[in-house]
Amino acid sequence: MTTKNKLLVCFKEQKGEWVSGESISNKLSVSRTAIWKQVCNLKADGYVIESSSKKGYLLSRTPDLLLADEIREKLNTSVFGKQDIIHLKETDSTNTRAKDLASHGAPEGTVVIAEKQTKGRGRRGRSWFSPLSDGIYASLILRPAISPVVASKITLMAAVAVAESLLSLTQLDVRIKWPNDILINGKKIAGILTEISTEMDRVDYIVIGLGLNVNTSFKNTSREVRERATSILAETGKRFPRIKLIRAYLQFYEKYYEMFNKSGFEPIMSRWKELANIIGQRIIVDTISKKYIGEVLNVDDDGILILKDDQGTAHRIFSGDVTLARVS
Ligand code: BTN
Repeated sequence: MTTKNKLLVCFKEQKGEWVSGESISNKLSVSRTAIWKQVCNLKADGYVIESSSKKGYLLSRTPDLLLADEIREKLNTSVFGKQDIIHLKETDSTNTRAKDLASHGAPEGTVVIAEKQTKGRGRRGRSWFSPLSDGIYASLILRPAISPVVASKITLMAAVAVAESLLSLTQLDVRIKWPNDILINGKKIAGILTEISTEMDRVDYIVIGLGLNVNTSFKNTSREVRERATSILAETGKRFPRIKLIRAYLQFYEKYYEMFNKSGFEPIMSRWKELANIIGQRIIVDTISKKYIGEVLNVDDDGILILKDDQGTAHRIFSGDVTLARVS
């Protein structure tokens, strides 16, 4: 633990009470000048720390930021987010940053988080609305020892992890929409963008980018966005601590990732199916090349949608946008 972290722990233990410079100095075995330096660093991160020559220091406010040390403080994982969490005030896209780090050897479990993205990217070339400190914009680096054809499972389990996080912390009615959108009352609250680097027969790294609308307001966005997107704030009228969600997500995701490595994908896929409730539904799938209408026969373990059209032909669809078709 760095002196800065130790100091923060010390301040937090005081639970809103003053603590003298001398007692911190004794406790941490560092000089008072060193303490002052770290107080300045904490203030630069957004912590509000009062100081008095008589009383010492008082931590009066922790910033509403997804700071690495704050996330790690109660994070119950062994790899995900355990070593490197890179917190950026602003970046173009956390996926772009994570890919850059991964290509330079960043280890599995590294997380890149931004308070704001200027070029947040969505699936199929779309952009992702990423206003300052409202949502979670996070990218996780994974290095599974798998062949590239299995990689879609890693994305499916991310969707389950996001859904489980929301279910465990809120009362919201959470659904998964194929392939990996998370919906509340038919509107999208979260999306996942997976980017992968492979060699001939094995994955080098996978970057899993999560965009989750937590305290996002869509009031000043277009009607189209307002009709399709939602957030916890929009659903409940209340702000929600983002930090709890990012921790829950990393914990659930690591649990599924370990489960996949030990016992295979079946239990995760069956939970995915429960949360998606898509089998037997009549849907329209808009793919890059074609539009399909028909009944969903299955979603297989690789996330491929198997759809029977009105002529009775089965199609295997890898990616697309789904809407429910009206029953004729
Ligand atoms: C989708 O279209 O549903 C996927 C959206 C993914 C958005 C996230 S935000 C964090 C990460 N960085 C990006 O640029 N995109 C993903």
